[in-house]
Amino acid sequence: MEVIICKTAEEASRLAADMIAGLVKKNPKCVLGLATGSTPVKMYAELAKDVKAKKISFKNVKSWNLDEYYGLAPTHDQSYRYFMNENFFDLIDIDKKNTHVLNGLAKDWKKEVKAYEAAIAKAGGIDLQVLGIGSDGHIAFNEPGSALTSRTRLVSLTPQTIKDNARFFKKAADVPKYALSMGVGTICEAKTVVLLAFGKNKADAVKGAVEGGISQYCTASALQMHQDAWFFCDEEAASKLKLKKYYAWRGLEELARR
Ligand code: PGA
Repeated sequence: MEVIICKTAEEASRLAADMIAGLVKKNPKCVLGLATGSTPVKMYAELAKDVKAKKISFKNVKSWNLDEYYGLAPTHDQSYRYFMNENFFDLIDIDKKNTHVLNGLAKDWKKEVKAYEAAIAKAGGIDLQVLGIGSDGHIAFNEPGSALTSRTRLVSLTPQTIKDNARFFKKAADVPKYALSMGVGTICEAKTVVLLAFGKNKADAVKGAVEGGISQYCTASALQMHQDAWFFCDEEAASKLKLKKYYAWRGLEELARR
C-alpha cells in the first residue's frame, strides 16, 4: 500500500487521473472498476479534460461499477447509474454498452450478482479499481462486519448510512435500505487499486485502513494485503497518520518509479 499525500484534493485528483490516463494510453482496451460518491468527481472531470484535449480515449475501455441501491431504477436521479452518466460517461467518449452498473431492479438478485462477477471474469478481470472510503472505513457498500473475502451480493445498509442518504430523498420512506455491492474479496482481485480520500471527516477511516489492524470493522484495511494499492489523500484526510511525513516523500518516489 502506498499513500500519496497532496496539499489539496485537486492535486490528488490530478495525480490519480494521471495513473488512470497512463493505463488507458498503455492499454486502450483496459477494464476499469468505477466508484460513485462526491470524492471521485474531480478526478472524473480531469479525465474528461484529457479526452477533450484528445490525450486519451475511452472508446474501447470497459467499466464495471462497485454498487447500486437495491430498489432504484437506473433512471432515478439518486441511482448510481444516473450518477455515472452525469459525472463521467456523458463527459467522455466511452461506449455506454461497455459500461456496467448492477441492476437495482433485478428481481432475482442472486442471478444478477453471479452474472456480474462472471462478466468481469470474462473481460479478464479489473485492471484498475477506483474507490472512495466511507467515514467508517467502508469500501463500496461493504459496511463494518462485511467478510474480507465477500463477493458481490445484496447488503443491508447501516442506520448511519441510511441517515446520511436521507437528505437526497423526498421522504424518509424512499431512502434505500439495501444495495447490491461488489464484495471486499471482489475488489481485492483488481490488479491495481486507487483509493481517494479527502477532508478531515475521512482522517479516522484513513488511519484505520493504513495503520490499523486488518479487520472487517474497517473493510478498507483489507487493502493492506494488496500488492498495488494507492491511497491518494489530501493533507486533512492524512492528518492522523503516524508516519505521514515518511509516506509524503516515499509515496511520490514510488509513483515516479512506477
Ligand atoms: P463520498 O462517499 O465520496 O461521498 O465521501 C464515499 C463512500 O462512502 O464510499
